Amino acid sequence: MTNNNWNRHHILSLADFEPAEYNMVLQTAASFREVLSRRTKKVPTLQGHVVANLFFEPSTRTRSSFELAAKRLSADTLNFSPGISSLSKGETILDTAKTYLAMGADMMVIRHREAGVPQMIASEMDRLGVRLSVLNAGDGQHEHPSQGLLDLFTICSLFDFDNPHIELLRDKKIAIVGDILHSRVARSNIWSLTATGAQVHLAGPSTLLPRLFTDYVGDQQQVTGTGSPIPQQQFSIAPPPSSITHRKLFVHWDIEPAIQDADFIMTLRLQKERMAANLLPSLREYHQRYGITRDRLQLCKPDVKILHPGPVNRGVEISSDLMDDPKLSLIAQQVTSGIAVRMALLYLIGSGRY
Ligand code: NCD
Repeated sequence: MTNNNWNRHHILSLADFEPAEYNMVLQTAASFREVLSRRTKKVPTLQGHVVANLFFEPSTRTRSSFELAAKRLSADTLNFSPGISSLSKGETILDTAKTYLAMGADMMVIRHREAGVPQMIASEMDRLGVRLSVLNAGDGQHEHPSQGLLDLFTICSLFDFDNPHIELLRDKKIAIVGDILHSRVARSNIWSLTATGAQVHLAGPSTLLPRLFTDYVGDQQQVTGTGSPIPQQQFSIAPPPSSITHRKLFVHWDIEPAIQDADFIMTLRLQKERMAANLLPSLREYHQRYGITRDRLQLCKPDVKILHPGPVNRGVEISSDLMDDPKLSLIAQQVTSGIAVRMALLYLIGSGRY
């Protein structure tokens, strides 16, 4: 395995990811998936490296997945919990990061409820001239790049398990349904899935899906359905330019046109902790209008598959029996894929020329 062509020091966003970078992540993850299928699932690749997991916000999957990925690569891991840390004594986030740097951390995996915190720490590390890489594990409503990449890996692997690459998704129809407004997973997936040439259809109530969301990728696309639009959200971090210009992104306030003939449906959790009051009439009504049910799947392609980043509100975003149906649900595969993809990310930024 070689990473000579990898030039990215931090992974903060997928907005400026190039096709070759996506493919390098997918191919590297496929190699690590093979390692994970062996009896001895560990390789010495990052021996002597220190990965600090700084999760300022609760997490089950992402945190455990990064930790296991680092351990499978033989790195040493440091885990930080805000509740039992010096943050409660008034230390700033930046000072916390610098403390881990002084302990020898050379990679930091950062999750924070405010957009931009991983970027801020990365900029400070660059300013100090230190060789430390930052991985964004979810910042506010902004982005969750490793989730976007593991979803991409999960989907591409269905078409070519040994050689997953983005071209496999050209012209596939992928619906992302639910609370798009508050979802960093949706934002990262919009970048990665539209980079493949797939058609990405967003669906949700107008209060959770601003009309001009399509501006997010710099394109004007059609909006269908009825609803009362709320003003366009100001995104806190402007996307950097990318060579991918023709992204196919559509907004629907009704679910039917979004899932009609869809190859994949990605449902998203209703993020009650990030929601202002009164954005939804009731969870029951939400399920009736936007919930993924067996009846609704009749509209999709016959071999449609369902994704959800978790955690799931059972019976709200998706009916409980669908979630547990291995013929339809990719939820468990997403979690498994996450380890190989995060190994790939740590490997690419950790053992490169930086
Ligand atoms: C997501 C997150 O925290 O952004 N979950 C995850 O990382 N797998 C989605 C969510 O919280 O709903």
